Amino acid sequence: MRFDVVTLFPEMFAAVTDHGITRRARELGLWRLATWNPRDFTHDRHRTVDDRPFGGGPGMVLMAEPLAAAVEGARAAQRGAGCAAGRVVALSAGGALLTDERVRAWAEKGGAMVLVCGRYEGIDQRFLDACVDEDVSAGDFVLSGGEIAAMAVIDAVVRRLPGALKIESASDESFATGLLDAPHFTRPETWRGCGVPAPLLSGHHAQIGRWRREQALARTARERPDLIASARAHGRLDEDDEKFLRGFARGAGSDSPALTNPSSAAATSAEHAAQ
Ligand SMILES: C[S@@+](CC[C@H](N)C(=O)[O-])C[C@H]1O[C@@H](n2cnc3c(N)ncnc32)[C@H](O)[C@@H]1O
Repeated sequence: MRFDVVTLFPEMFAAVTDHGITRRARELGLWRLATWNPRDFTHDRHRTVDDRPFGGGPGMVLMAEPLAAAVEGARAAQRGAGCAAGRVVALSAGGALLTDERVRAWAEKGGAMVLVCGRYEGIDQRFLDACVDEDVSAGDFVLSGGEIAAMAVIDAVVRRLPGALKIESASDESFATGLLDAPHFTRPETWRGCGVPAPLLSGHHAQIGRWRREQALARTARERPDLIASARAHGRLDEDDEKFLRGFARGAGSDSPALTNPSSAAATSAEHAAQ
């Protein structure tokens, strides 16, 4: 897959090219990055990319022409590399929320994408109307620029590319099942007096699987009830899940033991040890 990023700060993208899973995936040739600096598409001495907003107000606005020329350069390079014309996505606080569903669709489609990073007060609307297919937001908050949001897109999409993860763990991560992920524990078995939930130490795969499922259900019901409704609507909950959720709802309001907090979990290895 190929990402072409229009940005005033190309050096920021070392965070995804040079580190962790995305670095490894890049070295494996699963994706590549090209950056396009709008300043390289200006024609004045100062390489100006922004100007004051019409109508007044604070801050500066990124001008349409350098951005449009950068996008055209990116798309020409994509065509030259034999990639089908990819979507042009602008990162924007006002865009549609970046979701796992959207990320998965982009990863499955593959090919090329152009990501446009705004700065200052934002981008001239005429560029967005003429050159951008969709606006995407990293969340309901305002970043100083689109770069961190673009890196979130790249990271989330790349880890979904086949072969990017050493272990194919994406299938049970948060959202992949329609639920949030269950909590994780590792050594030592007792840390500062807190143990590990006993089912995880049982060695009994079915019991561990059921415990994780219930933890995911409980965490999702508590933190993101909208996802439970969606999982139900998509037929992703079975009778055991529904039974568990009914019990969970009856216990809701109290600090339900169904949702693991190791120090309050019904049975932990520390308690076992103390018995
Ligand atoms: C300071 S922000 C502009 C904020 C804009 N005036 C507003 O109120 O929505 C500069 C740039 O950061 C990026 N940005 C800010 N918040 C974002 C978010 N939540 N998701 C994606 N991009 C964001 C956009 O590219 C935006 O053009």
